[in-house]
Amino acid sequence: MPDKNIEVCILAAGLGTRMHSSRPKVMQRLAGRPLLAHLLDTLDVLEPAKIHLVIGEGSDLIQAAFAESKNVNWVMQTERLGTGHAVAQAAEYFSATSKVIILLGDAPLISVETLTALVQLDCDLGVLTVDVDDPGDYGRIIRDAQGNLTAIVEERDASVEQKVIREINTGSMVAKVSLLKQWLTSLDNKNDQKEYLLTDIVAIAAGAGCRVAAYKTPEVMEVTGINTFEQLASLEREHQGRNARNLMRQGVHIVDPSRFDLRGEVVAGKDIVIDINVILEGKVELADGVTIGANCIIKDSKIGENTVIKPNSVIDDAIVEADCSVGPFARLRPGTHLKKAVAIGNFVEVKKSTLGEGSKASHLAYLGDATIGTSVNIGAGTITCNYDGVSKHETHIEDNVFVGSNASLVAPVTIGEGSTIAAGSTITRDVECHVLAVGRGRQKIISHWQRPSAKRSEK
Ligand code: UD1
Ligand code: CA
Repeated sequence: MPDKNIEVCILAAGLGTRMHSSRPKVMQRLAGRPLLAHLLDTLDVLEPAKIHLVIGEGSDLIQAAFAESKNVNWVMQTERLGTGHAVAQAAEYFSATSKVIILLGDAPLISVETLTALVQLDCDLGVLTVDVDDPGDYGRIIRDAQGNLTAIVEERDASVEQKVIREINTGSMVAKVSLLKQWLTSLDNKNDQKEYLLTDIVAIAAGAGCRVAAYKTPEVMEVTGINTFEQLASLEREHQGRNARNLMRQGVHIVDPSRFDLRGEVVAGKDIVIDINVILEGKVELADGVTIGANCIIKDSKIGENTVIKPNSVIDDAIVEADCSVGPFARLRPGTHLKKAVAIGNFVEVKKSTLGEGSKASHLAYLGDATIGTSVNIGAGTITCNYDGVSKHETHIEDNVFVGSNASLVAPVTIGEGSTIAAGSTITRDVECHVLAVGRGRQKIISHWQRPSAKRSEK
């Protein structure tokens, strides 16, 4: 249910200075997707009344990537004067009676549960905090003797005593809009960064007698902010570890969870084995009994029961039915459909083609724009010549055809049922059913042939 009283403001105007990148930081990728995509997915579940997205340099990239996002109010921060300044740019759009959740665009993994706990704090200003072993460059949480939150001090402004504090500011806050607007007007930039720091509103609110509260989450990974590629890489591994553990709990045998990557969603059955260095991208479905060998990349594809994908195969936008064998070193490109018990061997590339039940292409072939029937044998080195330099043409190979090795099938062409194509043929015309087509020069024998020999050097 959408919550009419909750709005969200995401700060995403930073360029990621500490990554030395020319791209906006929220466009850096975690699990194959921009950091911002993870946050927006979470907010899809929370359903706030509005999402105010503060963007700056590189905003065109962000807006293009998220053009479809509903409910977003894009706010430009032309000068990057700090997190407090960023929120102030959006504040005029907040509805006075709302509560606004402020999120940092560089902390992608926050969960709906944690956001809900934060929003439910009974206070004027709520801060999401966490205890960490190494507080690094995070803002420190300052509490008084009674344990009440009194301030957040940024690492650069912290005293030696404050630096040892292990409770840190995650950056997520929730505030009543009417009060927040007042606090924002009191911010100044008298600090080491010379920025308007959002974190200063804690001391301002506490000093004004407002109710400031903290929700300390145990979920460190969820609230980890990304400033450097080292932090991004370690969050990626933690996130992938969680993906792998979830799959293992469902009964998928992942041989080494530290060498598994899910960059999207997977629906998995039982008795599945995934060997090392496998990447699953987009939407992948693995039926019962599927085995995936080492170093495979499978994207937006369905793999049927008991099919074996052998090492080093790349599969993109394909349907592979039950009992197939694919690879090693196979490439299935978009539009490939392998029906039951098809075998695709090493160095075979298939594009926009269907292979019928029991058909085989075991070695070194290119099958593009082809419709291939059942029990067809495609010999080694066979190529469908589907492109004339301008247009693509189709090849039809009917049931029980035997294509000998090293045949070139020049499309458009149809090979009739039960026919045989002689090895080394170039087939340019349709072939009827149950015939042998030979399209090659006859073998000649030249007797008494003398190989050229090197002349003896004359003295
Ligand atoms: C911020 C917090 C720090 C907290 C840490 C958690 C402040 C002042 N500090 O520090 O207390 O421990 O996050 O990860 O808030 N941004 C803008 N406009 C600006 C400045 C920043 O949109 O003018 C955005 C950035 O794109 C980024 C986010 O705000 O997504 C946080 O800014 P960043 O510079 O990364 O703050 P930290 O130093 O990490
Ligand atoms: Ca940060």
